[in-house]
Amino acid sequence: MSRRPVNPARRLVDGGGISFASSLHSKSRSSPLLSIGLVLLGTILLIGYSYSGSGGSSSDIKALSKLEGGVSCTLEVQRALPILKKAYGDSMRKVLHVGPDTCSVVSKLLKEVDTEAWGVEPYDLDDADVSCKSLVRKGIVRVADIKFPLPYRAKSFSLVIISDAVDYLSPKYLNRTLPELARVSAEGLVIFAGYPGQHRAKVAELSKFGRPAKLRSSSWWIRYFVQNRLEENEAATKKFEQASTKRSYKPACQVFHLNPHH
Ligand SMILES: *[C@@H]1O[C@H](CO)[C@@H](O)[C@H](O)[C@H]1NC(C)=O
Repeated sequence: MSRRPVNPARRLVDGGGISFASSLHSKSRSSPLLSIGLVLLGTILLIGYSYSGSGGSSSDIKALSKLEGGVSCTLEVQRALPILKKAYGDSMRKVLHVGPDTCSVVSKLLKEVDTEAWGVEPYDLDDADVSCKSLVRKGIVRVADIKFPLPYRAKSFSLVIISDAVDYLSPKYLNRTLPELARVSAEGLVIFAGYPGQHRAKVAELSKFGRPAKLRSSSWWIRYFVQNRLEENEAATKKFEQASTKRSYKPACQVFHLNPHH
């Protein structure tokens, strides 16, 4: 907004405390309509400003999924749960999550009504807390190398969600693992993968994963899915996007929705 330069002498007299609207009013007595319009404009700007100020909460949430300078797609799964529920509805009744820190996702899912959840932890669980150890003892969470067949029967789960794991697999292993994930899913497969250029691998995690994450572009993934005859779950993709827009949710990771092929 441009303002006409104020006469410095006048500002001195006013003590600088004069309001924008009243200074205009004194100058343009002949046009009360204009000053009313400007007061309205000022009010709108103030309201707009206070709204943009409240946007801080969403950046707080964003900061949550950025751990130790790297983005965690497993945390992103937790953030996305309300959106996934909107997109998948009843398909969320029996969920398998595959990825590091799976206990955190499984515990969160188990708090939901009408939701059963299991987890596969692809790496060690040396630093697991008491509640995670209890999930492992009950057989709800298993430690398993996802390069090998999963210890579940076909279509054991309505939905399979995988995060922070496919990024660490070479195409050779992806060729084995993705069909396995699709095999144990009855209704859908959701993949959370990092964006290229995203800062992630924590130094401690490098040794855990054995190799650094290879962050692939969405065009790489889509080409890969097409080559391997993994079809996009168009209905879920659409619903997920609609729910994201409605809640101003912007995923910090790439999210792909696939049909299990049987
Ligand atoms: C993975 O599977 C696809 C499709 O069957 C094939 O074209 C590709 O060569 C395989 N990649 C590797 C590394 O085995």
